[in-house]
Amino acid sequence: MRNGDKYLEHYFTNNENLKSELRDINFSFDAYNFTFTSDNGVFSKNKIDYASLFLVKTFFAFNKKEYQTILDIGCGYGFIGITLSKILNKHIDMVDINKRAVHLSEMNIKKNKVDATAWESNIYDKVENNYDLIITNPPIRAGKSILMDFLKGGLARLNKDGELWFVISKDQGAKSVKKELEKICTCEIQDKSKGFWVISAKN
Ligand SMILES: C[S@@+](CC[C@H](N)C(=O)[O-])C[C@H]1O[C@@H](n2cnc3c(N)ncnc32)[C@H](O)[C@@H]1O
Repeated sequence: MRNGDKYLEHYFTNNENLKSELRDINFSFDAYNFTFTSDNGVFSKNKIDYASLFLVKTFFAFNKKEYQTILDIGCGYGFIGITLSKILNKHIDMVDINKRAVHLSEMNIKKNKVDATAWESNIYDKVENNYDLIITNPPIRAGKSILMDFLKGGLARLNKDGELWFVISKDQGAKSVKKELEKICTCEIQDKSKGFWVISAKN
C-alpha cells in the first residue's frame, strides 16, 4: 500500500477509529429485494458497485454449471455472496480482510435471510476448503501482487471442474492479467461493459 493514500487507507485497513455511519442500500435483482447495510471504511459504501453488479449479472446470464460449494473472496459488505446465495439457494462462504466489512456481511446475511458464513481472512490465509466456484471483484488497487494472489490462489483452491469468476477493468490491466493466468489455466471472457471484463477461469 502506498503511504498517504486515503482511499486505500479507508478501503483496506481495520481502522476502528473511523466514525461509523450506517446506511442502507436497497437493491432489486431478478424479483428479489435486498437490503445491504453499509458504513464508512468499506468498498462502495453508498451504492452497489457497477463492476460487482456486472459480474453478478454476467454470471447469471452466462454460467451453465451448477456449483455446490462457493466462496466470495473480498466480500465487502456482502453484495456478491448474498445475492448468489439467495438466487441459487445455496450456502456461500465469504471472506474479507476488513473487520468492518465482515461485520456488515454478517449483519446482511441475517437481514437478507440467506445461508452464508462470513469471516476475516487475509486473502486465503483462513480459508481451509476448496470450492466448485470462487467469485470475486478483486481489490485491484491493492497492487498486482495481491491481485494475482487472489486469482492464482483461487485457481489453486478449485475442486475438479471448478471455476473462478472475476471482474477486472481494461484500464487496470485486464489484458495482461488474462495473459498471465493463461500460462496456468484456461480463461474465457464472458462479457464486457464500460471497460470491465468478466472472465471465467478453470484449471
Ligand atoms: C473491489 S472490493 C469488492 C467488495 C465486494 N465484493 C463488493 O462487490 O462490493 C475488494 C474487497 O477485497 C477486500 N480485500 C482487500 N485486500 C484483501 C486481502 N488481502 N484479503 C482479503 N480481502 C481483501 C477489500 O476489503 C474489499 O472489500
